[in-house]
Amino acid sequence: MLETLRSVIQFRPVELDGVKRRLSRAANVEDLRRLARRRLPGGVFDYIDGAAEDERTLAANTDAFGRITFAPRVLRDVSTIDTTVSLFGEQLPFPVVLSPTGFTRIADPQGELAVARAAQRAGLPYTLSTLATRSIEEVRAASTGDLWFQVYVWRDRGLTESMLERAAAAGYSTIVITVDTAVLGRRERDVRRGFTLPPKIGLDTFVAGALKPSWTLAFLRAEPIRFANVSGSGSGTGATDGSDTAVNLAQYINSQFEPALSWADVDWFRARWNGRIVLKGIQTVADAQLAVEHGVDAIALSNHGGRQLDGAPAPIDLVAPVADAVGGRTAILCDGGVRRGSDIVKAVALGADACMIGRAYLYALGAGGERGVDHVLAFLHEGMKRTMSLSGVTSVKELDRDLIASR
Ligand code: GLV
Repeated sequence: MLETLRSVIQFRPVELDGVKRRLSRAANVEDLRRLARRRLPGGVFDYIDGAAEDERTLAANTDAFGRITFAPRVLRDVSTIDTTVSLFGEQLPFPVVLSPTGFTRIADPQGELAVARAAQRAGLPYTLSTLATRSIEEVRAASTGDLWFQVYVWRDRGLTESMLERAAAAGYSTIVITVDTAVLGRRERDVRRGFTLPPKIGLDTFVAGALKPSWTLAFLRAEPIRFANVSGSGSGTGATDGSDTAVNLAQYINSQFEPALSWADVDWFRARWNGRIVLKGIQTVADAQLAVEHGVDAIALSNHGGRQLDGAPAPIDLVAPVADAVGGRTAILCDGGVRRGSDIVKAVALGADACMIGRAYLYALGAGGERGVDHVLAFLHEGMKRTMSLSGVTSVKELDRDLIASR
């Protein structure tokens, strides 16, 4: 009996490195999300995880991927799988771009620097947000990789212009103009909590802090979180002297962003930016066609992760009709609900050039810092390779709608 017992009992070696231990047990993005929920204060987790109003679009984004099924082929020699793609003439190991996310340091003190370094290691472009908590220059100093800069258009055009100049001087290749944020979507989890950025240490955060000691210690030890690209400009935090005060994001954005933004402004950007231009937040075929007429290098089909208009369509459902209308005339990116390599395969098979990911890496950052981001990027790449192997497709060039059984 003892012998039988000895033959079946196997203890895992104890991993002393807590981050490694956590990550080794995170089998997918949902596991990383659960870990992030455990580690981050409720308000911070909800800001990242939450979306607009009834969060129907948030749910629709992932559900839409779930409804798509494959028509896998067999006996096709899948001993080598090539996931590389060329996007704007640059080689990527697999078709993913890291989306801009505001206030990334609330998830981890290294914030945008950690994500930019992980993206560089993976050979993927990283998009820095206008509302970042590390500056254009700090991120460039941390990464020699391909950096994109996301632009919100401020009422203060001078501020927008100076950010473009700084991004050009720092060698950013691409700007991503977010066009779905004329006003901020109503994120009701944040409304309920009275969430501010940076998070305020009030009574509730104090209690949350006691419950999330590792986050709180790291937050208090690090330098103060600030709007790194705009602070000191007077538009920085809504404070007229440019000092860093906590803001209610909706009030801040609604007072600072340009609600009169129109198609003519795309030409304004063209005249001031020599690099590539991506329009992020396209949600109809008609606007995809207009974007092509305005000569943009790419469109990003996106509903801002369900954080803006609740009731907006899932981007993955737009990929095929948009590719039919404008494919080959502009690159097509697609975000919203990408949680697995198989999602990326679906998007590319339907006609996207690449996917963008946001929450997937933020959960990972909250769960395990910079190593968490490495972990999730490797997970997505592996998942893509496995899906292609199991579908009988050996290279991204061969991915087309023949692989899709139903949608
Ligand atoms: C900012 O862009 C956000 O979605 O919170």
